[in-house]
This record gives sequence, C-alpha cells and structure tokens, in this order.
Amino acid sequence: MADSLGVAVIGAGMAGKAHAAAYRTASALYSPVLPPIRLVSIGDVNAEFGSLAAQRFGYARNDTSWQAIAEADDIDVVSVVIANSLHREVVEGLLAAGKHVLCEKPLSDTLEDARAMAEAARNANSIARIGFTFRRTPGIAYIRDLIRSGVLGNVLHFSGRYWTDYGFSPSAPMSWRYKGGPGSGALADVGSHLTYVAEFLCGDIKSISGGRLSTVIGKRPLPLGAVMGHDHAAVSDTFEAVENDDYAVFSAEFENGAGGFEVSRVAAGHANSLIFEVFCENGAARFDQRRPAEIELFLNDGPANENGYRQVILGPGHPYIAGGLAMDAPSVGFGQNDAFAYQSRAFLEEVAGLSEESSLPRCATFDEGVRNMELLGAVTESALSNGKKITL
Ligand SMILES: NC(=O)c1ccc[n+]([C@@H]2O[C@H](COP(=O)([O-])OP(=O)(O)OC[C@H]3O[C@@H](n4cnc5c(N)ncnc54)[C@H](O)[C@@H]3O)[C@@H](O)[C@H]2O)c1
Repeated sequence: MADSLGVAVIGAGMAGKAHAAAYRTASALYSPVLPPIRLVSIGDVNAEFGSLAAQRFGYARNDTSWQAIAEADDIDVVSVVIANSLHREVVEGLLAAGKHVLCEKPLSDTLEDARAMAEAARNANSIARIGFTFRRTPGIAYIRDLIRSGVLGNVLHFSGRYWTDYGFSPSAPMSWRYKGGPGSGALADVGSHLTYVAEFLCGDIKSISGGRLSTVIGKRPLPLGAVMGHDHAAVSDTFEAVENDDYAVFSAEFENGAGGFEVSRVAAGHANSLIFEVFCENGAARFDQRRPAEIELFLNDGPANENGYRQVILGPGHPYIAGGLAMDAPSVGFGQNDAFAYQSRAFLEEVAGLSEESSLPRCATFDEGVRNMELLGAVTESALSNGKKITL
C-alpha cells in the first residue's frame, strides 16, 4: 500500500465542493485503514472559486489548469467535476499522466467521446471510475438488497422521476447545462442518475420507447459574472438560445419488467426530487430523495385489512450506516453529501489496494458510464423518431 495518497479535485463548483469535502471525510468513515490522505489541490480556471474551496476544505493549494495537476508529483488521485463537454480532454490527460481518476456523470457529452474515454481507461495503468453517487444512498442500496434477497422478489415494474427546478425561472442564467445536442439537457443531467438507479435496482434495460424531449424555455439571459451550479446570479439583457431538453419522458423494457421515466429541470417546487416506486412480486418500495433517511415498504404479508405501506426509518441495520457515520445510531438522518463521502471512500479503498471483500462496493467503471450514455442515446433516438422503439 502507498505511504500516502495525494488528492486533487478539478472543478470547485456545486459538485466539486462535494468531492472536496468527501475526500476530507473519507478516512474518518469506518476503520482507519486508508493510508494518510493528503489534500493537495483544487483546480479551477476561476482562481477565486479554486482558492476559496481550497481554504474552506483544507487543501494545500489551488491550481488554475488541469495540466498543472496532471504534472504534479504530489498528486495521485483526481476527481474531475467540470462541465460534461470538458471531461474527455481532462480525463485522458490525467490518465496519460498516471493519475487515478474519478469522473462525474455523465461520462461525457457525446457517446463518441465517452467510448474514447473508456478505451483510454482500459489502456491506462491507473484506475478510472465514474461517480454515480446515488448507488451510495442507503435507502436505494437497501431496496436493491430487498429485491435481490427475494423479500421483494422479481421486479414487475418501475416508475421513476427526477424532477428538478433549477431552470423553471426564465431569468435563471445561461450556463453550460443549456448547451449541447438533443438529450444533453435534463436527460443527461438528471436522467443519467435515474436510469443508473433503475438498472441498479431492476437489471438491464433492453429497449426504450415513447421517447420525447421538450425545450419549454427557448432562451436564457447571460449572467453578468461567473455562475456556480444552479445559482440564480445577476443577468444581463442579452439572451442566448437554449440548445437542449428541459424535460424528457420515455418508457423502458427491462429483461424482466417494464418502467416509466420522467425527468425535468423546470418542475417548479421540486429542487431535487429523485422519486421512484418499484413494484415487485411480493410487494413494493418507494424512495424519495427529499426524505433520504427513510423508505416506504409494502410487503404483502399481513391480514389484508391491515396491510399497507409502512415507513422504514433507516439506521445501523441498513447499508453504509453502521461504523460509517460518526453517530451511527438509528434515526440520526443523512443525505446526499454523505453519499459523496461513501463514494470517495470506495474510490480511495480501491486505489489503496484494499481487497474488494473488505471494501465498500466499488465505484462504477467507465464501461458502465458508456452503457448509461447508450441508454440515454436510445431515449434521444426514440424522441427524434416520434417515440419509436429502440433496442439496446
Ligand atoms: N453526482 C451528483 O450528484 C452531481 C451533482 C451536480 C453535478 N454533477 C456533475 O458534476 C460536474 C460539474 O457540475 P457542477 O454543477 O459542479 O458545475 P459548476 O458549473 O457548478 O462548476 C464547474 C466548475 O468548473 C470550472 N471550470 C470550467 N472550466 C474548467 C477547466 N477547463 N478546468 C478546471 N475548471 C474548470 C468552473 O469555473 C466551475 O467552478 C458535471 O459533470 C455534473 O453533471 C454531479
């Protein structure tokens, strides 16, 4: 095992800060078996964002180019947390320099680039993984266990939506999220999470049909300064066209079962509503990211007159909690930031060479990132051909 691991995060925006904080926490999750983690650099072309994040999360410095991080001898592990269209160049450069790379979802903005990245990962001497954070959500991981163990049993159908509202106001500023080809909008941004979760729970999707993409706000004002994440910054009176989807809907056939999906970035009142229900042969389960420390469970096992959905508060008997959270008692609550911490822990465990049996489940591979983009590509293809069925 390495004496220590030096870490950097490229991108100090909304999700970059979550990665920066997560590496800080990773060693303190579970037993202290990781080598010392050195928090080395935050890389952001915006020096102010980078410097603030470095100071806040205790990183030794900030850099303003990814090349500086690729060249740095004191850095071993890098998270890439910048606009999707920038992932390929940066990830390939880092892998060529021998860095271990954790890339944000979706793998890229085009399938061609994503496939090239997976090829680079296969040829690299270092580890490349993609952060589908929601697989670390205890409620989602627990529902998967219930399906696989037979308690819920075979999936009959899945109903999922990921509604967000960062774009519902027409004065929300133009950003990289509104640029790119069809399917690179809400579908790529949050549909990537929803489809990954659906396959994580229900198995492979084999076809998509009924795809539909809509842009409901056609132009957006340019911001007056740098915009971070979904911030509603001050805007100018110059507008640019929105190029991609605000809303997408589609249905899917799994190897077993079927599913309906809806994603949005203009669903007013739903800042971050990843909500699904999965119906199985022995019952059903419901998850709602607005209440991430519980699930609802229906098991068809009592007298019919008393049967119904029950609230299950998650605690140390459920995945990730025991020995992980600092206070791992029942009903303490947790959320999305904790999932980033588990994700960085899993990545560092793999990089450090800890065995799979003694580690958290590994992060997803770049090939899984490509698979997710093929699925999203099928939704786009279906939408562009009037909802035609597309076989994967
Ligand atoms: N897993 C999740 O839950 C989650 C949540 C949000 C975003 N994301 C993903 O994270 C990535 C970033 O999203 P975000 O919302 O944090 O974006 P953001 O716009 O908030 O931040 C991007 C940052 O990148 C910086 N930047 C731009 N070009 C750069 C370059 N060439 N080199 C270094 N820095 C550069 C910008 O200055 C900005 O600070 C995307 O891939 C997105 O899909 C994942």
